[in-house]
Amino acid sequence: MSVLRSAQHPGWPAKIGPVMVAAGEVRLRPVRLRDAAAWSRIRLRDRDHLEPWEPTGRGTWEARNHASNWPSLWSGLKAEARRGAMIPLAIEVDGDFAGQITVGNIVRGALRSAWIGYWVARDLSGKGVATAALALGLDHCFGPVGLHRVEATVRPENLASQAVLRHAGFREEGLLRRYLDVDGAWRDHLLVGITVEEVLGTVVDRIVREGRATPL
Ligand code: ACO
Repeated sequence: MSVLRSAQHPGWPAKIGPVMVAAGEVRLRPVRLRDAAAWSRIRLRDRDHLEPWEPTGRGTWEARNHASNWPSLWSGLKAEARRGAMIPLAIEVDGDFAGQITVGNIVRGALRSAWIGYWVARDLSGKGVATAALALGLDHCFGPVGLHRVEATVRPENLASQAVLRHAGFREEGLLRRYLDVDGAWRDHLLVGITVEEVLGTVVDRIVREGRATPL
């Protein structure tokens, strides 16, 4: 990492983790151009698992998630990361691409805030991968990135993601009505938030204390 870039954008690029959960060792690292095949394979296979919770896109699911679409998505994410507005990370389980976790709309100055969002391949569901990835991502935001607050929005129907957010210590702050164009319609979203003062030790410590992860 160049000194210049880390001064402009602390916490990018970074390799984060691991944390051990039921699925295996969870790590976060910057998305790569060569993630195309794994990214596309999972997203085409898991359409009905992912589509209900994701922003409505242009064109068909198949076209948007074809491997040939990844280079332009990837370069857009990297451009945002270079500008200091985003931290686009791949989630790895035992070294294999398993999903994504993204910190977006990073605002500095007196706000020092961002949002966080994630998805995980369906065949790894319920094995602690998203909980571990969120804990690692939050600790990164509150540590090297230097943020004070992280927020997330989640559909009230998305009980699995709400469980993941609760595990990390997020608080509910309100209901955003018709907030986001998701799966073809304007959907209500719960707004949840967490500030650095609410974290005792680290978020990884918290999930270890609660028996959701094992220290390495
Ligand atoms: N009702 C209640 N709880 C549920 C349900 C359900 N229907 N399904 C799963 N859960 C719980 C599990 O029991 C588990 O909690 P527990 O550990 O207390 O038992 C928790 O949800 C899941 O925890 P993890 O195993 O850490 O999560 P996983 O790796 O399975 O990933 C995720 C969860 C990210 C929601 C995954 O299913 C996914 O990618 N879904 C599609 C995309 C998505 O919804 N992304 C999140 C959008 S919102 C946001 O990004 C802030």
